[in-house]
Amino acid sequence: MTAATTTAETFRPALHFATRNTWLNDPNGLIYHGGVYHLYYQNNPFGSVHGNLSWGHATSTDLLNWTDHPVAIACDENEDIFSGSIVFDRHNTSGFGSGSTAPLVAIYTSAYKPDSAHPGIQAQSLAYSMDGGYTWTKHTGNPVLSRNSREFRDPKVIRYDGAAGSYWVMVAVEAKDFQVVLYKSEDLKSWELLSTFGPANATGGIWECPDLFPLPVDGDPENVKWVLTVNLNPGGPNKGSAGQYFVGDFDGTTFTSASTVTEGLQDPDRLGEYQWLDWGRDYYAGVSFSDAPDDRRLMIAWMNNWQYVNDIPTSPWRSPMSLAREISLQTNEGKLCLVQQPAGDWTALADAEPFCLSETTIHEGVQVLAGAAGTVQRIDVTLRPGSAAEFGLILRGDGVTGTRVGIRPGEAKLFVDRRESGQTDFHESFPSLDTAPLQATAGTYRLTIFVDRCSVEVFAQGGLVTMTELIFPAETSTELSVFAVGGTATVNNLQVTQFA
Ligand code: FRU
Repeated sequence: MTAATTTAETFRPALHFATRNTWLNDPNGLIYHGGVYHLYYQNNPFGSVHGNLSWGHATSTDLLNWTDHPVAIACDENEDIFSGSIVFDRHNTSGFGSGSTAPLVAIYTSAYKPDSAHPGIQAQSLAYSMDGGYTWTKHTGNPVLSRNSREFRDPKVIRYDGAAGSYWVMVAVEAKDFQVVLYKSEDLKSWELLSTFGPANATGGIWECPDLFPLPVDGDPENVKWVLTVNLNPGGPNKGSAGQYFVGDFDGTTFTSASTVTEGLQDPDRLGEYQWLDWGRDYYAGVSFSDAPDDRRLMIAWMNNWQYVNDIPTSPWRSPMSLAREISLQTNEGKLCLVQQPAGDWTALADAEPFCLSETTIHEGVQVLAGAAGTVQRIDVTLRPGSAAEFGLILRGDGVTGTRVGIRPGEAKLFVDRRESGQTDFHESFPSLDTAPLQATAGTYRLTIFVDRCSVEVFAQGGLVTMTELIFPAETSTELSVFAVGGTATVNNLQVTQFA
């Protein structure tokens, strides 16, 4: 084993999916089928950088432990297999089924190669599986939908059942036009344009990987709103790749949203007004599962940022997925907001009595929490501001380096500071101090933080604000500390659960 491989293995996550030794980007074709969660993903089966795009495949029964399988849909001399989705065609509308077996149908982007029949074009194609998602056959009539565009990609297909009827709806992007395009089909093969959405809100980079789904407002099934998510790169609130969302209505033809801003789009000062799936630097191309049990809306994103994707120091494997998150829609200060919670059964994985602390003053400076060290942990903490200008936790520390997750109450901000988080010099845009707006609730800040060897995912105020960031600390940097700057603060409650 080379030194580089050894280092890469120390970063290998315990709770997140990563490939054994190849490149990974967007999650694709997320579907719950046959009692398992299927996670397909953009994969280079032959290397550790973006290229030879094919769909890799992993499965899980608990969203925490993943089993990798052979490549599901492979690139060939004509096309790379770009991102897309999978539906269970239970009534065999596509005709790919046979006998009593209904097919799974993948709708993916054919990114046509220079020597193919459609050089440089991106168009939508189909493949189907008759064995529950393990082997796939490309449709001979591909592509099924072309606009002769070089930037038309990332189809997410859903089943619409509403006042306007019952049919398949595709959302995809014209990436450089900052537009989501909506299509309708009866059979997944022939598609008719319904409408377009955008440009709107954040347009500082191309639009990619959209999703569209209904959610009850505050859990009320009589009050359903639709959410349109769209990822953009760059142009996120803390630079680089990120995902924004719109809450509104979908009548079977058109998506409309009251929170749409179409004037002054590029103004960076407006980014804080828009709604973001995640405020961190490493949560991209998030899409939701089809057919998740109990109507749960579950999302997984790729934990990386196109700014430094090919350089993160984990080769030969590159990039983990995020944790699966359960998404709901809640009214917060009169505004409809997505709230995200880590999904999965954590209790079965915890391997020790949690470390607990309550009603403890954080004095100016840094206090190491003896007994709370670790590299794979869940931290649940409630903090109360005092006189300190900023306060919070230092993760994966060693007295010199560490990642600060903190609050600046005067500025109503949550921050993740990874400038001294360990290895940061592999790319100039990696060392960063990133912020998100965060208000106290009843005078306190509640954070749930997952640390998993090379990542930090923060769910603040019950998941109203999330921040996801990669970090590459030394294996020996394991300390957990609290800190305060310019005064004191208080830990109401702190619980640290170790997982590995
Ligand atoms: C997003 C993306 C998609 C595309 C895929 C290619 O990260 O650029 O738009 O389908 O990656 O790998």
